[in-house]
Order: sequence, then C-alpha cells, then structure tokens
Amino acid sequence: MSSQTPKRDDDYVIDQGWKNYTADEHAVWDLLYRRQRAILETRAHEALIDGHEALNLNRGGIPDFAVINEELKRRTGFKVVAVPGLVPDEVFFTHLANRRFPAGQFIRGRSQLDYLQEPDIFHDVFGHVPLLTDPVFADYMEAYGQGGLRAMKFGRLKNLAALYWYTVEFGLIETPEGVRIYGAGISSSKDESIFSLEDPSPNRIRFDLERVMRTEYRIDDFQQTYFVIRSFDELFRATVDTDFAPLYERLADGVTYKPETVLATDSVIQRGTQAYAKAKASAGAKPG
Ligand code: PHE
Ligand code: CO
Repeated sequence: MSSQTPKRDDDYVIDQGWKNYTADEHAVWDLLYRRQRAILETRAHEALIDGHEALNLNRGGIPDFAVINEELKRRTGFKVVAVPGLVPDEVFFTHLANRRFPAGQFIRGRSQLDYLQEPDIFHDVFGHVPLLTDPVFADYMEAYGQGGLRAMKFGRLKNLAALYWYTVEFGLIETPEGVRIYGAGISSSKDESIFSLEDPSPNRIRFDLERVMRTEYRIDDFQQTYFVIRSFDELFRATVDTDFAPLYERLADGVTYKPETVLATDSVIQRGTQAYAKAKASAGAKPG
C-alpha cells in the first residue's frame, strides 16, 4: 500500500500525512487563510478570530494536527482527527460525542478556491476547529454528537441535521457591534461571508429551536434564511438543557418550512427580498 492511500479504521480515522502535502498545497492554505481573515476581520464573531490566534493557524502552510491538538487539548479537551471526507452519520456523531472533530485531510485545488461540495481541511480547520477552543461551543458540539445518536433512534435525523446546518454551519450571532458570523459554512466562504451579512436578499430571523428544526435548507447555493442567536449560552441552553424526546414527538407531524418562508410567529431581524434566489431561479428556468 502506498503512502497516498492511508489505511482507515472503522472510525474512518486516517493519518493526516502532514509530510506528504506539497508546497503548492501549503501555499493554497496560506492564500485562503489571508484572504478569508481579511474578509472576517469586521464580520466574524470574536470567538472565531480568537480561535485562529490561539491555535496559531497562520504559522505557515497547512496546520499539523499533532501541533494544534496540543493547544486544543489544553483549552477544551477537544481533538482533531483526519478523515477522508464525509463519514457516515453514526461515525460522525460518535467522534463528536467523544470530543473528537473529524476533519477532511485533503485541501481543495486552485480551480476550486471559492467553492467545493466536500468538506476539505480548509473548511474544517479554518471554519470549525477555532470554535472548539470556546468552552461553551465545545460542550455544544459534544452534546450534539450524543444528540445525533439519540435522534437516529427516534428517526428524526433530518430535523437534527437542520439544527446543525443553521447553527454550526450557517449561524449568525448578535453582538453589541452588530450581527456577526460564527458558522463554518459561511466563514470558510469568501462570497457567503459578505452575502450573509450585507446582501438584502436573505432573511435574518431570530433562532428558535423547533422553528429551525422544521426548516428545509439548500446545499447548492447561498442560504435564503439565516438564524441569529444571541450568544453561545443561549444556543447551549436551548439545545443541551432541553430533552428532545417530546420535541421529536411533535416533529413527527412532518410539518416543514421552505428555506425562504417567514412565519407570522418569527422574530424577524431583517426580512429578505429573496432577489438573489429569484434571479437564480429564473435564470435556471430559461433555456441557455
Ligand atoms: N438535548 C438533546 C436531546 O435530548 C441533545 C442535543 C444537545 C441535541 C445539543 C443537539 C444539540 O436529545
Ligand atoms: Co462543515
């Protein structure tokens, strides 16, 4: 077996193979890091920036997990492990429940700097891992892993996935200075970092657990709605301190909301025009 095809165990963990990254792959990390940090300077929640600094993700090239894990362990006991890409739900939840964050081992190529479907090391380590230095957020992630295993038993993974999507991946947070980014799907994307905060198109609605868990989401384009939390403590209390069993009973009615829907009961921070999504839809509907 060559060093290019690392062996994986049942938990899908592989060796990061840090020595095998090419000079150009390290250069892609540096380029993405600099570009994204410039955009996030005024847009990201400080926990994210503090995490970048605490883990020294700008020491030059792709971070070595063995090195960043020392600091991560000191802060919250979390650990990053390398995986080939997306892993099965149960594997993913089991890692989180044991305070391990599975991160893609590969880095995108230069032709995909702005967008790719699979989570690579830049999305995972620049976007997700810094928040694992925050004690409350780290506890939320561990609890989410336990909650995932439980949701599988209730057959309500779809609803729990929506919670992850609208918080961990595409969450916004209110601060005294204004609304800021904390979701990794946003913070690792140049265009969505600007779109999510500044574009008039998407809705920005206050986080409500059941509302979020009933909301459909799109994986192929910018979100049509972003949910805004007031603090990680609020998110923690609304999820970790709530027994989801009665909630899963209610969700069994199957009522869901479209990504763009605004309900009369929503606490709306900004109602979007949906101009971006409408333009995309009509462009797609025409031939050519
Ligand atoms: N409290 C949830 C339950 O009872 C578990 C959970 C915690 C889910 C945090 C998501 C996030 O199932
Ligand atoms: Co992600």
